[in-house]
Amino acid sequence: MRQLRSVTFAGFRDPQAVAAEAANEIRRASEEALSARGRFRIVLAGGTTPLASYRLLARDGLQWAGWEVYFGDERCLPAGDPERNSQAAYEALLSVAPVPKERVFSIPAELGAETAADLYAERVRQAVPFDLVLLGMGEDGHTASLFPGHPLDEERLVIPVHHAPKPPPDRVSLTISALTACRRMLVIVTGASKREALAAWRNGDDLPIARAASRSAARVLVDAAAGGDLLRGT
Ligand code: 6PG
Repeated sequence: MRQLRSVTFAGFRDPQAVAAEAANEIRRASEEALSARGRFRIVLAGGTTPLASYRLLARDGLQWAGWEVYFGDERCLPAGDPERNSQAAYEALLSVAPVPKERVFSIPAELGAETAADLYAERVRQAVPFDLVLLGMGEDGHTASLFPGHPLDEERLVIPVHHAPKPPPDRVSLTISALTACRRMLVIVTGASKREALAAWRNGDDLPIARAASRSAARVLVDAAAGGDLLRGT
């Protein structure tokens, strides 16, 4: 159970409560980073879970000019495709919050996984350590586009991914090394479909999310449906 020692799990009644707490945590991290360093470097999670938090944040009067936005992974789809993580984040957050366009660093996955990984690795090299990395978790315990049983290539910062079990098959992902080069990590997990993977994680299975979270003393926000009902509330 060693790997769980540094990870804190907090249970919430529903996805709305998780989204509100995640937005609060992101707000706090941005204020701390901006007052300490004059900028806030955040890695956004893909998928659908974080979108409610993004929508809550979008309405805030934060110091957006100091934000630098990065992505934990991207799907190899044409630029602007609604299934891209950067497009979902744009619609939920970046089309409303006035983050300067030159400070939003999308992964150029439309160029193909290998080319995009090489290009984005340079961008990540200049950015780390991130102030906050936000991650989701898949039903198999994957995070970003790091899937169980796939090579994790931890000596690299960004890798091409092929044959991903979650479509589309071709993706680009930050590695555990890059995702854990951060001051804070926040993981958000909601929905009954995640219950089994969360239990496996808490039982000590060596899942990609477990490896990332334990390296960064992550805070994990879980709703009741995903297993938060078994956790102490915050
Ligand atoms: C993606 C994400 C992926 C996601 C999990 C959870 O490209 O889909 O990067 O890692 O965070 O699969 O997805 P949901 O939040 O949609 O359940």
